[in-house]
Amino acid sequence: MAMENFKHFLVVLSVAAAAGLVSIIFVLIWVLHFREGLAWDGGPAEFNWHPVLMVIGFIFLQGTAIIVYRIPWTWHRSKLMMKFIHAGLNLLAFILAVISMVAVFDFHNAAKIPNMYSLHSWVGLAAVILYGLQLVLGVGMYLMPFTPASWRAAFMPLHVYGGLFLFTSVIAVALMGITEKLIFSLSNPKYKDSPPEAIFVNVLGLLLVVFGALILWIASRKSWKRPSEQILHTLHTDGGVESDVPNEETCGDVRKRSCK
Ligand code: HEM
Ligand code: HEM
Repeated sequence: MAMENFKHFLVVLSVAAAAGLVSIIFVLIWVLHFREGLAWDGGPAEFNWHPVLMVIGFIFLQGTAIIVYRIPWTWHRSKLMMKFIHAGLNLLAFILAVISMVAVFDFHNAAKIPNMYSLHSWVGLAAVILYGLQLVLGVGMYLMPFTPASWRAAFMPLHVYGGLFLFTSVIAVALMGITEKLIFSLSNPKYKDSPPEAIFVNVLGLLLVVFGALILWIASRKSWKRPSEQILHTLHTDGGVESDVPNEETCGDVRKRSCK
């Protein structure tokens, strides 16, 4: 990566990391300072695990997983190692999302609130299920040694599109959830009266949008892609970096550039 390009990458990555980390701090301040705190007791403090784990897992970890291949100081690591990191972060994100769902269902059942009535819950549950499918298909395609290279290449455009679509949907689902929660829980003063909690949590929503926008920007820059293993190998023989896994799955139609 040329120096100028590398500097641009660093700036976008740093702002994305800052937006993501500050979002996590904001959601913690929201539940610990403005709301009932965190507990596993069937009450509102159990519900609070829902936004906390969704922001940490389903948004921050998923966003990080999506861009790990793009980080230049990992390019001397083998592709297989990076696949494990990408898959591992996505798996962790999925586990946290599932725990977060258990928290909200448990809270609803204990308080006799109906389940699955809102648009937020419909799109949210669909996203969690499709994410699970993406995870299983990802492992099957890219970690099973017997999967033919032609399948890997053919599936890659769908994998990338599916991943980016899910990530974007999850940000939208979080914004719906935040809005619902503020409308439900603020009374006297109400949401429409803009109390400090409403302003604070609106800012959290904005931070999530900024984080999402920057992750999508990084993931859609062709010139920030991890070079193919062949190129890395050439660099290695010229005194550069080392690699050991062929780049079979990146030779699909959208990725031909990296196969040259
Ligand atoms: C409920 C998914 C983020 C607030 C639910 C339910 C699902 C879900 C499936 C239904 C639970 C039930 O019916 O018992 C998701 C997903 C998220 C997310 C996939 C990923 C980002 C958030 C966030 C908030 C939130 C950040 C902010 C507080 C709520 C509220 C409910 C709820 C208030 C209860 C009301 C309802 O069912 O719509 N969520 N959620 N969610 N969620 Fe989320
Ligand atoms: C690439 C999402 C699971 C293997 C990508 C990309 C996205 C993505 C958005 C494009 C990244 C880029 O252009 O730099 C997801 C999501 C997953 C998931 C949301 C989980 C729900 C997996 C799993 C594997 C895997 C389990 C198995 C190893 C790959 C590979 C690439 C990739 C090999 C190509 C990297 C490259 O272009 O060099 N994934 N992925 N993914 N993913 Fe996944």
